[in-house]
Amino acid sequence: MARHIPEEKVDEIRRSTDIVEVIGEYVDLKKQGRNYFGLCPFHGESTPSFSVSADKQIFHCFGCGKGGNVYTFLMELEGYGFIQAVKQLADQTNIELPEEVVEDEPSSERSEESQTILEAHQWLAKLYHHLLRNSKEGQQAFQYLIDRGFTEETIKKYKIGYSPNSRDFVVTFLEKKGFHPQTMVKAGLLSSNDQGDYSDRFRGRVIFPLRNHLGKTVAFAGRAQGDQEPKYLNSPETELFQKGKLLFNFDHARSAIRKQKSVILFEGYVDVISADQAGIHHGVGTMGTSISKSQANLLKRYADQVIICYDGDRPGVEAAVKAAKLMKETGCQTFVARVPDELDPDDFIQKYGGDRFQKEVIATSETYMTFMMSYLRRDYNLQIEGDRIAYIEKVLQEVATLERAVERDYYLNEVAKEFEMSPDTLREEVQEIQRQTGFKKTAKPAPQPARAEKPATGRKRLLPAFHNAERMLIAYMLKDPLIADKVQNELGGAFNISDHQVIVTYLYAYYEDGNDADVSDFIERLDDQSLKNQVIELAMVPVNEEVSDQEIYDYMERIRTEGSDRTDIKSLEDDLKRAEQQQEHIKAAEIAMKIIEKKKQLKTH
Ligand code: UTP
Ligand code: MN
Repeated sequence: MARHIPEEKVDEIRRSTDIVEVIGEYVDLKKQGRNYFGLCPFHGESTPSFSVSADKQIFHCFGCGKGGNVYTFLMELEGYGFIQAVKQLADQTNIELPEEVVEDEPSSERSEESQTILEAHQWLAKLYHHLLRNSKEGQQAFQYLIDRGFTEETIKKYKIGYSPNSRDFVVTFLEKKGFHPQTMVKAGLLSSNDQGDYSDRFRGRVIFPLRNHLGKTVAFAGRAQGDQEPKYLNSPETELFQKGKLLFNFDHARSAIRKQKSVILFEGYVDVISADQAGIHHGVGTMGTSISKSQANLLKRYADQVIICYDGDRPGVEAAVKAAKLMKETGCQTFVARVPDELDPDDFIQKYGGDRFQKEVIATSETYMTFMMSYLRRDYNLQIEGDRIAYIEKVLQEVATLERAVERDYYLNEVAKEFEMSPDTLREEVQEIQRQTGFKKTAKPAPQPARAEKPATGRKRLLPAFHNAERMLIAYMLKDPLIADKVQNELGGAFNISDHQVIVTYLYAYYEDGNDADVSDFIERLDDQSLKNQVIELAMVPVNEEVSDQEIYDYMERIRTEGSDRTDIKSLEDDLKRAEQQQEHIKAAEIAMKIIEKKKQLKTH
């Protein structure tokens, strides 16, 4: 494995990171005793067997056996290479990596061109932001943002920028940095005409960087300051930027979404930013497109509940219906917030403030069905009998799609009350619709929250005593260099399980290098993934805080006896072979008896 990052850096970054926090971004963790438990992200399960140890800074799944430190986790989950994983955490901990690493290491999965395009975006995002804050021309764009209610802090946080109204400023900048204009055209940063002249595609616009879920800018949206069309000029799709996959602000919002198990979906970039500024941090937005299946599924992975908060005008409501249907299909509890007076969320916040937005818009959002009922109502005049029937029919069709019987009942009763009908008739009607549409319950059993009792530890099978002794001993050795030292002197590498021999050999060397007990660091020295997993598993073996010398000696004794018994058997087997070769049948039978006897003893240790 090519490693260009100095080991001290790798260690420093790992030490400055809390594995519980990093994994907590992806997995809902609950504290139980000293460890945290959650549903394993690597295999499907409904009872948590995935555990994270804050003391040891490692994770381990008793179900599927995966385990490791914070780097291993990111590599497994995000499909990163080692260097990518280190880089990401370096970014998050604000630890500087040597320049060569940052520049030279193209990530494995991306094409070279994408890598170039990514770099160009990082440079340009910096430049645009700088120009907004420091150039004369940027001043009016800055003022535009301030007038719209953005604070300086927000402008900084979102690295909002400005692209000067010049055809060649950015062209020259990119050329000086060594970027090929043709590639930049492909990236959507420059435009070119028939004469082969290049110009800045975003010139004269306020720039909103669009970041992927790792916080890297992969595209821009340029907002016109006047009535220029289009209002927002977005980057074209590239390998790095796919509108149906990216969610605006997901990188910032992820931990808030995870914590609250709820996400607010907005239509506009500015709505997301405005809400964030008002203290609502779990908002994300789509890219001016309707929400895609893959975006919906992504949100479902993080949240149990989604609140759709689109513009209050007709197109906004139509879009909300589509989004609500899609989100409901994922199994998310779906709510729709109504912004009054045809305002958009940002307008509302600017006009009435964040508190009222929270209380009057978000907190009063309607359930999917209530929203749908009033939405459908708009198409009918309920004074007319024919319309009334058509409306009820539509509502029943919606009710038929609801997963839970209580929910269906609740809305049936509402309709029954309003139109003075019998709930039973309506229920029959719904059942009929379900039959016709082949309604199947898609609801998967809800994941069980981590229970208070002891989680499954997987290792149910009984191990021979010597094997257990080896495991316990290594568990203690991983915790305490002094114990390891004792074992090294008394027993050395004389473990019976060959993987254990390898592990202790590495461990002795690790402590001899002057390292303290640190499993998460130690496994970095092992190249073999299965060894790593075994070490992690051993480190998770519950051991006592204090251990007596006697206990340690007992373990060593068990291991030794097993060893000598094994040697005995080995030499008896040699004897047996010899006796057989020499046709000494009686002697051979005696030896065979001894072997059987010995083996029996071994099993009962
Ligand atoms: P809106 O027209 O509602 O704009 O478009 P907005 O969010 O209120 O923006 P401001 O407040 O006028 O600045 C909603 C979203 O649709 C996409 C953008 O993602 C925008 O945030 N959009 C809109 C475009 O991509 N291009 C456009 O020309 C307009
Ligand atoms: Mn707006």
